[in-house]
This record gives sequence, C-alpha cells and structure tokens, in this order.
Amino acid sequence: MTDITISHREMRVAESVSRQLSNALTRRKLTPAFSDFFVTRLAGMTLLIAVLDTAKLGDHSPYICADLLHQLSTDLGGMPVYLSNHSGIRIVILLSPLPKLARKVNLPLDVPRGKLAIGVRFTGQPVLLDWEQFLHLAVLGSTGSGKSIFLQSLVSQAIRDDMQVLLSDLDQTTFGMLEGHPNLAAPIATTPPAALELIEQAIAECDHRAELFKSLPERPQKLSEYNALAVKAHIEPMPRMLVVLDEASSVLTALGGAKGAMGQALATLGWRGRKFGIHFVFAAQEFTKDIVGPVRDQVGLTLCFRIRNGQMAERMGCKGAERIPDNRPGLAISDRHGPIQTYFVEQSALGQRQNLLPALSELERSLFTRALVEGGRLSRAKVIEWGGVTEWQARKYLEAWSLRGWVAKDAKADNAFTITPKMLVLLSNHPTAPTASSQLQPAPAGFNPISFPE
Ligand SMILES: Nc1ncnc2c1ncn2[C@@H]1O[C@H](COP(=O)(O)OP(=O)(O)OP(=O)(O)O)[C@@H](O)[C@H]1O
Ligand SMILES: [Mg+2]
Repeated sequence: MTDITISHREMRVAESVSRQLSNALTRRKLTPAFSDFFVTRLAGMTLLIAVLDTAKLGDHSPYICADLLHQLSTDLGGMPVYLSNHSGIRIVILLSPLPKLARKVNLPLDVPRGKLAIGVRFTGQPVLLDWEQFLHLAVLGSTGSGKSIFLQSLVSQAIRDDMQVLLSDLDQTTFGMLEGHPNLAAPIATTPPAALELIEQAIAECDHRAELFKSLPERPQKLSEYNALAVKAHIEPMPRMLVVLDEASSVLTALGGAKGAMGQALATLGWRGRKFGIHFVFAAQEFTKDIVGPVRDQVGLTLCFRIRNGQMAERMGCKGAERIPDNRPGLAISDRHGPIQTYFVEQSALGQRQNLLPALSELERSLFTRALVEGGRLSRAKVIEWGGVTEWQARKYLEAWSLRGWVAKDAKADNAFTITPKMLVLLSNHPTAPTASSQLQPAPAGFNPISFPE
C-alpha cells in the first residue's frame, strides 16, 4: 500500500477495512483470495482497491453480483462499495466522504455521436446512454425541479445528432425557442389533441419505416442495422426520431387516462418505435396510479427529480428522490445510475442555431474544407493522406459520415465519396469548431462502478 498522498490514518483505516472485507467474504462462504490491496485517490476520493485472484475463485458470478456489494457495504458500516470487473475482479471501497455533486454542470459540446449525455455522477463520470439501448425515458419531478431544462438538453443533443423531433409543450415555456426549427417534424403541440396527433404521426412514421425495412432482403431488425445496409445499397439512411411530451400527465388525463386514446397510442408507439429508432420521453410532475405501470413497462430509464411522493419515487425505481432538497434543481435519482446532476443548458443558447449544429471535429473540418477546394470528393486514400489516420480509421470515418448523410458514394465517379449539400450547409454555418474539451473523458482505466449502495 504505497501512495505518498495517503495519510497514516487513512492507511490504518484501509488495513482494518481490508480485514473486515476478508471476514465478510468468508462469512458468505466465498473465498477471500485477494492478490493485492492498494489505496489510491481519484477525483478527490480515497479508494481502497482489493484485487481478487480470479484463478482461485471458481465460479465468478457470486463475486460480481450487485447483492453482494450491498451486503458488503452493510458489513462495512455503510461504506460505499463498487465493483470493477473489466480486467479481473476488483472490489473498490470508498474510504473518504462522498464528494458533493456539482450544483450546475453545463452540457458539454463534445458528446460522442449517437450517444446521449444526461449528467454526471458523484465520481465526476458522465452518464452516457445509447439510444438503441434505453429506447424510451420517463422523467418525473415537482415544479421547478429541473424537468424542462433536462428536456431541453435532450432535444439539443438530438438535434445536434441530426434526429427529427416531435415536441409537445402545453405551457409553451419549454420549447418555444425551437418553433420553426428544420429538425421539427411537425409544429410544437400546445393542446392535448395536438399532442395526440404527434403520437399518431410517429406511429404513421413506424408504418412508413416498416415498409422501407421490408424492402431490404436482409430484413434488418433495428435502425442501426437498416442504416448500415442502406449505406451499402446507396439508399438514404433514416434519422432517429425523438418525441418529447412535457406535462404528459395532463395530456393523458385530458384524453381519458391510460385506457384512453392517448394511453393506447403511447403503448403502440412504445413497442413499435423500438425497432424503427423512434424514441419518446414522457415528463410529468406526477403519474397517476393507472399510468405508473404502463409507463414503467415501456421505458428503459426513469429519472426522478425532486418529488414529494416517496412512494411514487420508489415505484418508479428512484427511491430517495423525495429527499432531494428544494434548492437542488437538476439533481435527480435514476433507476439505473443512482444520483445524477443533470446537465444544464441556457435557454438562450438553445435559441441560437449554432449551438444545435452537429459538432465537427478539427480533423473533419479541415478534411472537408480541403476536399471542397480540391473538387468536392473524398476517398479513403485522401482521408489517410490528408488526415494522417490509419486505413482502418479512414474506413470508419467514411462509414460514419455516410450514415450521417455528410458524404454519398457516387456510382458514376468510380464510387468516390462526394460531399453532400448537407455538409456544405454545416461547413458554412460552422466558422469555429468547438475545441475538444475534456469534459467527457472516460474515467481512469480499471474504475467502473456498477452499483451505488444507499
Ligand atoms: N440541471 C440544472 N442545473 C442547475 N440548475 C437547474 C437545472 N435545471 C433547472 N435548474 C434551475 O431550476 C429552474 C427550474 O427548472 P425547470 O424549469 O426545468 O423546472 P421544471 O421541473 O420544468 O418545472 P415546471 O414543472 O414548473 O415546469 C431553472 O430555471 C434553473 O434555474
Ligand atoms: Mg417545466
């Protein structure tokens, strides 16, 4: 156990915790086959890392289950215990007090494409989601708790990612600045019947997409598969679509509750949308009893901002949201990731087109600009030569750009890639690319908390 920044007192605590940890495993009839213990600091926290010798464990599964982490935490008097198992099995114990979540964290500009960044955890790690995995989302919170700002951060990322959006905003306070935006697939709905029309439009889009899916002999099962095939077949890829219902409970109640027209339409969109890359976000101050079940069945992630009703929080899998203080807007409990400080976006920033444009990297900007000057074409060889990247990277880049409709293969020109009008618009609107800020750097290797004991 060596680290010059660790005090003697911390070392003594670490040694005592190591012994307790071994005893706790033995009591559970597990082998305390530790090959190493060390103490380290990460993001202001002191961590004890206990490395298990996997060769001596037999079946690994009892050592990596979330229940064990909760039990160990209880045995250790409530110390948070995490697991890191992407190279060997390490049990990580937080010796220092939990760092406080920042009160305000701006949405970074360098969110990786195709991902959704929702906020940061205690560890400072960003929570990044994959649209295809979480599918639909439920957002709950009392007035002033941060729902609308969160929805704005989702929609701004969706637009930056070239998604189409359908928005419902009865109060007309959340999305007004986006009125008329080209990524809106319909005008913003401001009445319950108009919101129902949005959902019906999204279902009609499912029908349309189903036809296009059928037209490919490979019968893709999800949007990413369809798009990969489409690019190969020189067909235009399909954008994902995001449907956001703010004040969703009011809309539902006005239209007959879970069994009414809106409830039924949402249920249909819930299961059909998955395959076709059509996602919805359902936000409300409260869910009535009849809709909690159906909502939970549909969504892959629930985020609960401050609410009064502890039972509701618990039913949504977000125990503890009732204890979030009034003065912490933006702080939420997620059913999958525990406490998260969600990202903040300035309302005014959303109104500026520039903030909603896909972020071009330096490399992309310089490559596209050069290609334009030299005749409007790109090829793998040019990307390798001009960009100084490997052949594999060049292929990945071209694939990703085709998927986004930034380049298209020109069968008439020896299958070279031509720059599309979409990219021209992007380039002309993007005088300065955001610098590669490091806000979204991955956590240090080996630290991958999967569980967060209360
Ligand atoms: N992520 C955040 N970080 C910091 N402050 C935030 C965050 N989200 C919201 N706030 C603050 O809280 C205020 C209220 O947030 P917001 O309008 O999103 O609440 P709401 O849940 O939509 O309320 P309502 O139900 O009344 O519409 C914001 O104006 C902002 O000052
Ligand atoms: Mg609101």
